[in-house]
Amino acid sequence: MALRTTAQSREAGRAPLPLTSRRDNWWIRPLLTVIVLGAFVIYSAWRGLENQFFEVGPYLSPLYSPLLPIDLSIGGWKVSPALYILIFPLSFRLTCYYYRLAYYRAFFWDPPACAVQELSLRKRYTGEREFPFVLQNLHRFTFYAAVIFIVILSIDAIRAFIFNGRFGVGLGSLIFVANVALLALYTFSCHSFRRVIGGGLNCYSCSAANQTRYGIWQRVSLLNARHGLFAWCSLFSVALTDLYVRLVASGAIQDVRFL
Ligand code: FES
Repeated sequence: MALRTTAQSREAGRAPLPLTSRRDNWWIRPLLTVIVLGAFVIYSAWRGLENQFFEVGPYLSPLYSPLLPIDLSIGGWKVSPALYILIFPLSFRLTCYYYRLAYYRAFFWDPPACAVQELSLRKRYTGEREFPFVLQNLHRFTFYAAVIFIVILSIDAIRAFIFNGRFGVGLGSLIFVANVALLALYTFSCHSFRRVIGGGLNCYSCSAANQTRYGIWQRVSLLNARHGLFAWCSLFSVALTDLYVRLVASGAIQDVRFL
């Protein structure tokens, strides 16, 4: 397939978008990203602002966990605690290397795919060295916050098996376990975690501790190769877990109990 290079495109002048010689369906991936990511942002914003139907029986929506004892009102409007909580998982996902690739392509068209000319409105390319994109470098710190949330959501998943002080299993209990498992896979396949485990070493075989780190790094690398898959699966699982809690809490459906 003869592709026109960026230099050739520049020589030819900017043509109406998109400019590419690709004949495959390259636009499907960015289009799906816009639809799925856009739908999640709209749904989570709506649920965050709704401030009700987030707890029922032993189930607490992951969008509202942990329950914060903050009671803040602005102009008579009670600020939803989900808005404080969302800052942490949202910043982790927004700065994620995988999501950056996906939303730069899908929303900024910068470029939308390989060998497709970008829709560039900027005058010069500064990468992620200037505000606001320089904030992407905070990702390694948002990772530590994400680990704390894995602990919190794991406790929620255990609590999802305690019905009025007794052990029980509902469909919600299983959904909570699946959700935290997918979130853990997403979090611990993170590039920053891989760096924490295996980075900053000159010699893996020089000590027993370094050899252990190398072994863990190899396993994390296996997870890391599927990071994109875990990113999407965990996004769906958070939304579906919250939706299930909402439907049960609002009385739209009843929790299915197995035990
Ligand atoms: Fe995606 Fe860290 S690179 S969560």
